Amino acid sequence: MAAEKKERQPGDNIPRHIAIILDGNGRWAKRRGLPRTAGHAVGAETFRKIATYCKNIGVEYLTVYAFSTENWKRPEGEVKTIMRLLNKYLQEAIDTMERDKIRMKIFGDLAALTEEQRELVRRTDEISQRYEGFQANICLNYGGRDEIVHAARRYAADLAAGKAEGELTEEQFGAYLYSAGIPDPDLLIRPGGEQRISNFLLWQCAYAEFYFTDVLWPDFSPQELDKAIAEFQRRDRRYGKVK
Ligand code: IPE
Ligand code: IPE
Ligand code: MG
Repeated sequence: MAAEKKERQPGDNIPRHIAIILDGNGRWAKRRGLPRTAGHAVGAETFRKIATYCKNIGVEYLTVYAFSTENWKRPEGEVKTIMRLLNKYLQEAIDTMERDKIRMKIFGDLAALTEEQRELVRRTDEISQRYEGFQANICLNYGGRDEIVHAARRYAADLAAGKAEGELTEEQFGAYLYSAGIPDPDLLIRPGGEQRISNFLLWQCAYAEFYFTDVLWPDFSPQELDKAIAEFQRRDRRYGKVK
């Protein structure tokens, strides 16, 4: 395993913030003659390994897309299993957070979650406040458009209540998003072979570097992440300017 502890060095150009669309769980399972949900269980383990690896190599933020606002349209049985896995995962994550001093945030519309899930989210928030350093963000019932609309509504409410003034800037608007205070992703990785954004971090990925791979998420490994980072390091980020 490549996962030894490395200190982040100035100039080593490790992305500060990596975003990943966790895709390909269903196909991974199907290829093995297993139910799709078996792929989600292995995918959750892969997330744990990759999060630890990111922390070890000096990535500061890892944001993963685990369940979209559109994923509710899947068969009821699959949605139920994903939600069950999620509860188990959140409970285990709380223990890991305490042990490894990891911060974790949930991005998404939590109103659609159960009271038990919302309580788990509150506990992750509480624990996160105790620590500094690496932060994992899990997008749950998340949609990029939904996030922007929610932010716009909250801004409008603040404006009506006299809590916001002046001309709205991009920076001020960013503070209404789930990602408030977090730098934009430098690198967006999509395993699973599709080359689309599927409503993920639409605002935040304005200048992210995109990396696509056919490897399915449950097979994704630290070595695959190293490949994505090596490709990222060869990119020339111009932000609209001329070099
Ligand atoms: C991603 O894997 C996990 C979720 C969207 C919840 P998929 O379930 O989309 O797997 P594929 O794309 O069908 O293989
Ligand atoms: C994107 O994957 C959403 C998540 C990984 C949570 P999907 O499998 O839902 O995306 P599409 O349907 O292929 O665009
Ligand atoms: Mg998919």
